[in-house]
Amino acid sequence: MSIQYLTGFGNEFESEAINGALPKNQNAPQKVPFGLYAEQLSGTSFTTPRKKNLRTWFYRIMPCVNHKHFKPCTQPFFLSYPLKKHPPTPPHRFRWNPLPKPVSKLNFLESLTTVAGNGGVSSQTGVAIHIYSCNQSMKKQAFYNADGAFLIVPQSGALSIQTEFGFLEMEPGEVCVLQRGMKFSVSPLENYARGYVCENYGAHFELPELGTIGANGLAYPRHFQIPTTHYEASASSFKLFCKFQGHLWKAEQNHSPFDVVAWHGNYVPYKYDLRKFQTVNTVSFDHCDPSIFTVLTSPSDTPGVANLDFVIFPERWSLAENTFRPPYYHRNMMSEFMGLIYGQYDAKQKGFVPGGFSIHNCMSAHGPDSETHNKASSQKLKPQYLGNTLAFMFETRFVFQLTPWALSTKLLQKDYEQCWSKLPALFHK
Ligand SMILES: [Fe+2]
Repeated sequence: MSIQYLTGFGNEFESEAINGALPKNQNAPQKVPFGLYAEQLSGTSFTTPRKKNLRTWFYRIMPCVNHKHFKPCTQPFFLSYPLKKHPPTPPHRFRWNPLPKPVSKLNFLESLTTVAGNGGVSSQTGVAIHIYSCNQSMKKQAFYNADGAFLIVPQSGALSIQTEFGFLEMEPGEVCVLQRGMKFSVSPLENYARGYVCENYGAHFELPELGTIGANGLAYPRHFQIPTTHYEASASSFKLFCKFQGHLWKAEQNHSPFDVVAWHGNYVPYKYDLRKFQTVNTVSFDHCDPSIFTVLTSPSDTPGVANLDFVIFPERWSLAENTFRPPYYHRNMMSEFMGLIYGQYDAKQKGFVPGGFSIHNCMSAHGPDSETHNKASSQKLKPQYLGNTLAFMFETRFVFQLTPWALSTKLLQKDYEQCWSKLPALFHK
């Protein structure tokens, strides 16, 4: 199913597991069919203009109010911004090796490890970047995040994600968005799963405007998919985890959080296959800026300056004539986190491996390594297919503050900056 609301039309979706469970003519009838409870989940303020207003009506066995008192709990590597205390983030260029497989049993929530972030949960600005490496299902557990949305980018291992709306299954190459407040439970479909998470504290993700590209291009609305209803009528004990104002909380309840029998609305979780992205770039010379690869954007209050852009570098043809084709050397007002899902990224010959990640913060110079520069500036140019590659970038207007873990982990490549050390001075008169 498509999610046309991303284009600003406010379309409605509906799904029911039992014929007739969805009230036909109103949202909250005095008696809901089959003895269900009606409950609304608001993704925006009530008075948000219609084209951006997001909400969904659930028809469920038990309303969400039915849980015990929240108690604080800890997951020491899953952090929120602003950090209570953090060492100064230096202007270095950073690169890390991938998280290894866990040595003990860990589920998705237990394995979340925060690398960097900015902004703040209470002001609803900025992002946090996490990585995960897990081997267990969140059995009889659900999590919801009052602080932001999760954009999950699997790198190794498929995931099954149970939501109040139904199941989302995805493999590396696909991504999903679990919006603020939605309850979900993650299960690896294989014996191991690893990937990246962008927690978006800011405005909801949208498709970028297309400007002079026209009506067609980049990610197509019709390629986004949403779940269909699947309910559990279980009255057994569940643990409900919640992140609220940067702290993790836990409550018990004696019914499944996934008991929605029918729903309708436009505030939904969704997934997208990055391999369906229509790539646009030059067919003459030079480069378009990487914004041409934007899949989703979280706008800020300043037009054209994103709280977060999700950008990919997919398989594509490289055609530019008389051009240094890899990404150009640059210093950026925006701050960049990059990850690699598979293959090789065209700006680096080695060191940036699938599952690894890098950060190039505001105005920190970066670009192709010495070997890539040497090769790309002397090769004979002809149409070239860049196959077997899928890299991505979380690009944000706010500077990334690194966590103590990110600054001290053994995964940090202390010699990363050496990749530019052999660049020769080629100037001559
Ligand atoms: Fe960059």
